[in-house]
Amino acid sequence: MAYHGSSIPLSAFVFMICLGTAKSLYTIPLRIYPGKFNSSLDLDLTPLKTFQDSTNGLSLASDPAGIVNFLNMVNNLQGDSGRGYYMEMTLGTPGQKLNILVDTGSSNFAVAAAAHPFITHFFNTALSSTYESTGRAVAVRYTQGNWEGELGTDHVLIPSIPGTLTINIAAILSSEGFFLPGVNWQGILGLAYPLLARPDSSVEPFFNSVVRQTGIPDVFSLQMCGAGLSASTTADPAGGSLVMGGVEPTLYSGSMWYTPIKEEWYYQVEVLKLEVGDQNLNLDCKEYNMDKAIVDSGTTLLRLPVNVFNSVVEAISRTSLIQDFSSGFWGGTKLACWLKGETPWRFFPKLSIYLRATNTSQSFKITILPQLYIQPITDVEGTLDCFRFGISSSANGLVIGATVMEGFYVVFDRAEKRVGFAVSKCAVNGGIAVSEISGPFSSADVASDCAAGGLLKEPLLWVISYALMAVCAVVLLILLLLLVLPCRRRNRSGEITDESSLVRHRIK
Ligand SMILES: *[C@@H]1O[C@H](CO)[C@@H](O)[C@H](O)[C@H]1NC(C)=O
Repeated sequence: MAYHGSSIPLSAFVFMICLGTAKSLYTIPLRIYPGKFNSSLDLDLTPLKTFQDSTNGLSLASDPAGIVNFLNMVNNLQGDSGRGYYMEMTLGTPGQKLNILVDTGSSNFAVAAAAHPFITHFFNTALSSTYESTGRAVAVRYTQGNWEGELGTDHVLIPSIPGTLTINIAAILSSEGFFLPGVNWQGILGLAYPLLARPDSSVEPFFNSVVRQTGIPDVFSLQMCGAGLSASTTADPAGGSLVMGGVEPTLYSGSMWYTPIKEEWYYQVEVLKLEVGDQNLNLDCKEYNMDKAIVDSGTTLLRLPVNVFNSVVEAISRTSLIQDFSSGFWGGTKLACWLKGETPWRFFPKLSIYLRATNTSQSFKITILPQLYIQPITDVEGTLDCFRFGISSSANGLVIGATVMEGFYVVFDRAEKRVGFAVSKCAVNGGIAVSEISGPFSSADVASDCAAGGLLKEPLLWVISYALMAVCAVVLLILLLLLVLPCRRRNRSGEITDESSLVRHRIK
């Protein structure tokens, strides 16, 4: 990917950073990249909210029937955090190969079925003898972009899953801001719950179909291996693994920690606390879950509700002892650059997210090192290493996106209604682990329920809006009466007597 404007007027952008304590005062040649930093490569494919019903699965810890071999699924993904992680699948009869983005923040299996300038090929439904259209239209709007198409079904072959599956497919006929320049995928695999499926939850999502048709356990796990790699390298995309049916032990080290799924629509979890360095942000824990906190592989960055974001930025700038960052860096429109070899990570604190443990009076923390959230961007200018801030602010909840997920092997244990985190074996940069996990901690100091919003709030919002509509109706009725009454009075006396009547002037 090309980032434009690669010549930097050095004099204008050299900031002196005073690091320091009483003892030492030295400078780091930090430069803020002035060019137009194109951050459009970041995905934020979180669909705007919908709701209806949901399903649940059977609980099995591993794959006792021996239907799938987890090791065969290791390294079945390609991609990076900026452009998403994708898997090769074969659709239709005869098979057409497509790369499909893995997205735990939506629930449709949707593939390009018409040409688009940013994709190399598409699924030609006319060439598949097994494709059946249902004739139903479908449209999905994401935080960024949207697509429209028609619903159908066809056969799908996934590496390592035996047999031919029949899957609901949304054939994308038109889209906007969905396929981006440089992406190497032509479709999206929504792995969340039926509640998010469009047009409604009767469209069985891909993984529900896989579980029903193969009998594998209702669990999948995701390892994304782009930690510390440049977010804009075109060559050699990092790998990753989507393990369907269970957990592959060779992909992680240490213990697996589980947090309950609060509501089954997105993978909604409960965040209890945030720490920058060892400093507790100390916000009301409801702020972290405003209006929800979700685990979403289809979102590039760690996204934080505005209040939380501001307080994290403030804490990071204080802890990093770097005062001169332009707001453009924190806002994601500018890069910070250092002379080659001057990796800046030692100046930044660790970031910890405390999640409710399955024992609800306990929590555990997932910690990311700056190597994960201060992200290198390749080759802006020859003598500099440039980095972007991997955290952004959000108006629709906290999103544990790829920035964080790249540190962990994440288990979506739908059977047990929980999400597991363990330190990923590929979350290593220059020989050091860039993520940590520890617990248990007592959650006695936080509220018993921090998940203020989310799905539970939706019916409440409807109640409130209906109540408001009722109030409006009553007010209108009163106004109508006022309108009628003076008329009658005028009929009698020929004059409006109520000076305060809102409708007086309309009658005249
Ligand atoms: C849950 O955590 C509390 C507090 O740490 C502890 O006292 C209790 O024994 C735990 N319960 C279970 C079932 O492990």
